Amino acid sequence: MAALRVSGTIRVPGDKSISHRALILSSLADGDSVVRDILDSEDVRSTAGVLRALGAGIPELSKEMRVQGSGLRGLRPPRGPLDCGNSGTTTRLMAGVVAAHPFSGKFVGDASLSRRPMKRIAEPLSYMGAQFEFERGDGLPMTVHGVDLRSVDWDTGGSSAQVKSAILLAGLAAAVEVRVTEKSLSRDHTERMLRAMGVDVENDGKQVCLRPARRLSPLEIHVPADPSSASFFVALGALAVDGELTLTDVCLNPTRTGFFEALRRMGASVDEKKTISSGGEDIGTVHVMPAALRSTRITAEQVPALIDELPLLACVAAGAGVELEITGAAELRVKESDRINAVVHNLRTVGADVDELPDGLLVRPGRREFSGTIDPRHDHRIAMAFGVLSAATGNGIRVQDPQCVAVSYPGFWEDLRSVVTA
Ligand code: S3P
Repeated sequence: MAALRVSGTIRVPGDKSISHRALILSSLADGDSVVRDILDSEDVRSTAGVLRALGAGIPELSKEMRVQGSGLRGLRPPRGPLDCGNSGTTTRLMAGVVAAHPFSGKFVGDASLSRRPMKRIAEPLSYMGAQFEFERGDGLPMTVHGVDLRSVDWDTGGSSAQVKSAILLAGLAAAVEVRVTEKSLSRDHTERMLRAMGVDVENDGKQVCLRPARRLSPLEIHVPADPSSASFFVALGALAVDGELTLTDVCLNPTRTGFFEALRRMGASVDEKKTISSGGEDIGTVHVMPAALRSTRITAEQVPALIDELPLLACVAAGAGVELEITGAAELRVKESDRINAVVHNLRTVGADVDELPDGLLVRPGRREFSGTIDPRHDHRIAMAFGVLSAATGNGIRVQDPQCVAVSYPGFWEDLRSVVTA
């Protein structure tokens, strides 16, 4: 197996979750907001497109953009369907916004998004008074009929920032109090941004409470680099035999940094250093150096803070030849692909010894040569995770449909090549 050497300092593109929220909340503000360093990717373009279809003043995505706010309930009825592309965050958050407006919106998306479950948002938003129509099961197309919503106190029974945010946005736009209880804290970007815009939102780690606001102050925000995108390079640095990598301007919100922690538990040298704050988020530098990795386990309580990084962690364990057991992660089955099955199937295809569990997977230890062609199933994070495994283990893996990374990280392959020195 060829020995990987890496070096460089890299600023990965803007955070996807924060970028969606910056566009949505700026559109609901009273006045013009300034959004800097937004992620320009297919998913964020989907949110921009849906907001424009609802009359929001959103220009082309650019390094520094001014968004004209329409006010809390100021969006207009759409002329056609709201196309969410591949983006679950666009669909679920915007369903909450539309539910509070006096009109209807029909949400559509690509084949992957159309299969994803929407009951989780339809239930609480229906309880608040909105009406939902589905054509097939609880997937898209989905029509939301908005009304004057009432207040809600909802227990999601799980940990989903998309569900929590759909309810918070519905409560915000309808100016009613909402409470949401979760099993464990999901990413809290919506709460942080709302606070930065003057809204009274409390989150004690289990329950979030939003009190009615009369207006939303405009936002001035710098979108930090996405820790999920940075994770691909942190993984690469940990698997290398020599060199070091520095990731700058990374969002260090603790609800997002579970992957860095998991790698540290595996023995990796991953340092986080906070430098600034913006829009309620801590931002800083992540530095990684190669190290001998050891086996670990991921259980249900740890899952929310690294949910999107679990496919990558499985590839890291396979690449390092150590054992990894992931449980309590059944949610992975309803992401852009069934990520448990996609990872297990593709890891086996390239020669790893892996078991599929109902709610996770088991990577067995052992040194292997990896080779073969993997099918990422149009899922950006599967493609990038296997790209890292390939680079770290001698480039024997070919990733079909490499351009599917454009959903969250259009320049991924160029950036990957730029840090590999041998
Ligand atoms: C996201 C929340 C998470 C995450 C997704 C982005 C968000 O999904 O997996 O990539 O921006 O709110 P869930 O809320 O379904 O856990």
